[in-house]
Amino acid sequence: MNSEEIRQSFLQFFKEKGHFIVPSYSLVPENDPTSLFISAGMQPMIPYLLGESHPEGKRITDAQKCIRTIDIEEIGDNRHLTFFEMLGNWSLGDYYRKEQLSWFFEFLINKLKLDPNRLYATVFRGNKKIGINKDIESVEILKALFKRFGIKAKDIDFAEKNGMQGGRIFYYDESKNWWSRAGAPDKMPLGEPGGPDSEIFYDLGAELKIHEKSEFKDKPCHLNCDCGRFIEIGNSVFMEYIKTEKGFNLLSQKNVDFGGGLERLVLAVQNQLSPFETDLFKNIIIKIEELAKKKYIEFIVPIRIIADHLRATVFIVGDDRGIKPSNVDQGYIVRRLIRRAFRYGRQIGIENKFWMEQVADIVINDYEKNYPELRKNRNFIIEQINKEEEKFSQTLENGLKEFEKLKSINGKQAFNLYSTYGFPIEMTKELAQEKGIEIDEKEFETEIKKHKELSKTASIGKFKGGLADSGEKTVKLHTAAHLLLAVLRKVLGEYVEQKGSNITSERLRFDFSYSEKLTDKQINQVEKLVNEAIKKDLSINCNEMFLDEAKKQGAMGVFESKYGEKVKVYSIGEGSEIFSKEICGGPHAKSTGELGRFKIIKQESSSAGVRRIKAILE
Ligand code: SER
Repeated sequence: MNSEEIRQSFLQFFKEKGHFIVPSYSLVPENDPTSLFISAGMQPMIPYLLGESHPEGKRITDAQKCIRTIDIEEIGDNRHLTFFEMLGNWSLGDYYRKEQLSWFFEFLINKLKLDPNRLYATVFRGNKKIGINKDIESVEILKALFKRFGIKAKDIDFAEKNGMQGGRIFYYDESKNWWSRAGAPDKMPLGEPGGPDSEIFYDLGAELKIHEKSEFKDKPCHLNCDCGRFIEIGNSVFMEYIKTEKGFNLLSQKNVDFGGGLERLVLAVQNQLSPFETDLFKNIIIKIEELAKKKYIEFIVPIRIIADHLRATVFIVGDDRGIKPSNVDQGYIVRRLIRRAFRYGRQIGIENKFWMEQVADIVINDYEKNYPELRKNRNFIIEQINKEEEKFSQTLENGLKEFEKLKSINGKQAFNLYSTYGFPIEMTKELAQEKGIEIDEKEFETEIKKHKELSKTASIGKFKGGLADSGEKTVKLHTAAHLLLAVLRKVLGEYVEQKGSNITSERLRFDFSYSEKLTDKQINQVEKLVNEAIKKDLSINCNEMFLDEAKKQGAMGVFESKYGEKVKVYSIGEGSEIFSKEICGGPHAKSTGELGRFKIIKQESSSAGVRRIKAILE
């Protein structure tokens, strides 16, 4: 099976089990202040996991674009990728453990034809401190599943200390078998949903001696061993808890949140040792080999890095949000990816001008069928990549010469490499590691902070998981954001559109299309109209309808492509007093009277043609 067949076979399999196929959401989260990118399929599903009804019912499936930026500098091994597609299925208070574990097993064996002897499972060990027991129920289900294939599945605890011991099902603690956007239970903020999970691993094979050849050879090998012999190909989360001040309570419904990396499933089916050797990367790697006049097999790591980084760049820049390389937020991630790919290109001898464009075009060709936005935004993508290459190619060589002169790197020097030669700090760190010289990171951060325009770069490290909360204050600010959009269109004109929003419990941040600075008079007018709508105590109602109907009724919606056929439309006000109508997942306040006083605390430019307003409710 090729990757397209595998993607479609997953979606069709779950469709046959009563799931509705929804398209991928944008890579950039909405209303989620702590996460730069969607890094798991469940992130956009949070309102529904918390109990909001999904317009398409209780069974949903999709292939979601994801970016994980924590490991950019680690890319090159046999399983990590910056961009990947996560195949997902959800039970929103419907089926639970038995169906989920059996269906995924059935999919792997009957549809993908994987050998059951190569499959292994993990489950939650339980933790008395948080009052959650060992996941015996999953173990029993898994044992029965393996038994169907004549496999006697022994359950084993503490394989991380004692090795595999002939086991098939393994218990791990909350660092491995618990899922929430924030990670383990103690890391979760109040109001965050989570639960124990069960992962399926694929064995690349003992005969390859992957563990024995790795740096971990002196420790016992087990499913979660970093040697990479066992690859996690799917994770079923049994999401039934919410963190409260008194510990873990049950959610109003028991959910299943399943996610499996498409690239890893393809690796298993195509019997390869890494995603880079599957059809998903074939054309990309052939192109890089051609440009470098080198063979993949001789330059595995740099070629993997180039392929991974440029593929991720195409998806981020091509995501309809107009993200460009910059020094902050998502733009800084793109800058790092392009510059790192470019440096590795030079390292393996690619000298052609605008060579990255050629790789980007391959990515667009390969993926446009499933992600038409890439073709639509092709010129923008190429323009951004070439501009960045132009900027960086002029300084890279001199920067490297400068770097070669250094015996150790203090903050000022690292900062100089950044500001004069455009070396992202992470690149300087990587170069220093390659050369075995020390770098004073702390001093570097201090230098950066001194330069105001770069102050946000230092905080990049904080954006790891997503923690959009569903607390009361956040919900009210969300409703205020709807009022704000309606009012902006009244005050500035009907062509004003929402370009993004980001809400914490303290404030809302709202981006919209408008090229000029708002005058004081306009700001006052906006505040006044929002506050009038609040005073009228308008009721907020939600209706489900087909997308066409929503559009006909004039409902606003930020990104059409992310919605399934049926959508939820939130209206503020009733009858002739409809103040705002938006396609939105919710949740919202019941009526505007709850909101308090609306106040704009800041306006600024977000990017060309886009203004940003920050506002609070007092
Ligand atoms: N949320 C889980 C994960 O990302 C399963 O979808 O692994």
